[in-house]
Amino acid sequence: MTCTIVFCLVSTVLLFLLTADAAPRARHGKKGLNFNPKWAPVYHPKIYRGQGGFYPPRAKGHKFAPTPDYSAVMQRMWDLDRHGMTSASMQLAFQGNTTTSSTIDHAPDRLFAYVDEDVLLSFTTVTAFLALTDNYIDQSGIEETETEEETEEIDHFLDLVIETDVMKEAHRFLREKSPSTPSMGEPFKNLLKEIWFSLYPRSKNFSQPFDSSGFEHVFIGDSKAKQRSVGGLHNWIRAYYLEKDGIFDYTGYIDNITAVPPGRYVAGARYRAYHNYWKQPFSSFFFGSSPEFDLASFTLCLLLEPNRQCRFTLHNERLSIRSLKYGYGTNYVETAYPDVT
Ligand SMILES: *[C@@H]1O[C@H](CO)[C@@H](O)[C@H](O)[C@H]1NC(C)=O
Ligand SMILES: *[C@@H]1O[C@H](CO)[C@@H](O)[C@H](O)[C@H]1NC(C)=O
Ligand SMILES: *[C@@H]1O[C@H](CO)[C@@H](O)[C@H](O)[C@H]1NC(C)=O
Repeated sequence: MTCTIVFCLVSTVLLFLLTADAAPRARHGKKGLNFNPKWAPVYHPKIYRGQGGFYPPRAKGHKFAPTPDYSAVMQRMWDLDRHGMTSASMQLAFQGNTTTSSTIDHAPDRLFAYVDEDVLLSFTTVTAFLALTDNYIDQSGIEETETEEETEEIDHFLDLVIETDVMKEAHRFLREKSPSTPSMGEPFKNLLKEIWFSLYPRSKNFSQPFDSSGFEHVFIGDSKAKQRSVGGLHNWIRAYYLEKDGIFDYTGYIDNITAVPPGRYVAGARYRAYHNYWKQPFSSFFFGSSPEFDLASFTLCLLLEPNRQCRFTLHNERLSIRSLKYGYGTNYVETAYPDVT
């Protein structure tokens, strides 16, 4: 879950207003952004419009049904991840459990008890990813721009990512399920760029600043001054560095943590944290995964199971990913995150 309930309800209202009449105005001069007024907001009828905005309801008493194909491909991607941490290179301290409404810190110590930075920084995709983290103003409402240098950093990151076995496997699976998927190389890289790096207004009000992108929301985080909260921020590497800088304060875990053997990493714990003393009601990560694993798995679910729970197992542990599309006929990511089910 990536946004406060209040914020999601606001988005809901805006979306309906836009549906009713005003079409988003076309914006030019920004890469990847040229909204066609004819595009209708994507609205999945099965998506529940109450609590939490556009999230499908959590299945109550419904048996978890992982899709065998997804389990197979996710497991292969997990096993192929050469830039993932191991229990030797990373240790986590989950400490106390908490609830989404608790204001008490149930985890006085750091979440990231130990991260071997020599290992982490030896991964080329990680250093390319870290170069991107200072390209964004994480506050909602402040217009983002992309300098030439920043565009080069994005290209460099994606060039490395599409060369990884993890992304190649995701691509192979996407082509199998959806033959119109662009071919590997430049065409697929351009799709990833469009999905993740296109700038858009997080408010979905096209008169407001283009202050966000899928990448910014999911991998960097969007602070919302009005609600004094943080949305997104589902990447453990980002959280690790924020915690190291004293900005991110983990306050406890919510759901049971799912540890994925064989002693390799822990995946998908929901947590509650304060970021820069702003509340994060709760969020979730894959811990120890590479940037390409997160990017590839979220993309796969966005393209094959948009707005739905993409259910699978990893080493027999039940996990799911939810990748939401921004709407308006775009492929842009609104948010994407793992979940324990
Ligand atoms: C932690 O979990 C236990 C067992 O489910 C529960 O009784 C307790 O209230 C939880 N603590 C907090 C602070 O939520
Ligand atoms: C969109 O933003 C503009 C400029 O801030 C504001 O005047 C307008 O009321 C907003 N529209 C909606 C539907 O909230
Ligand atoms: C956590 O795990 C314990 C032991 O397996 C179980 O009894 C409990 O119901 C779980 N709690 C949640 C919130 O899933």
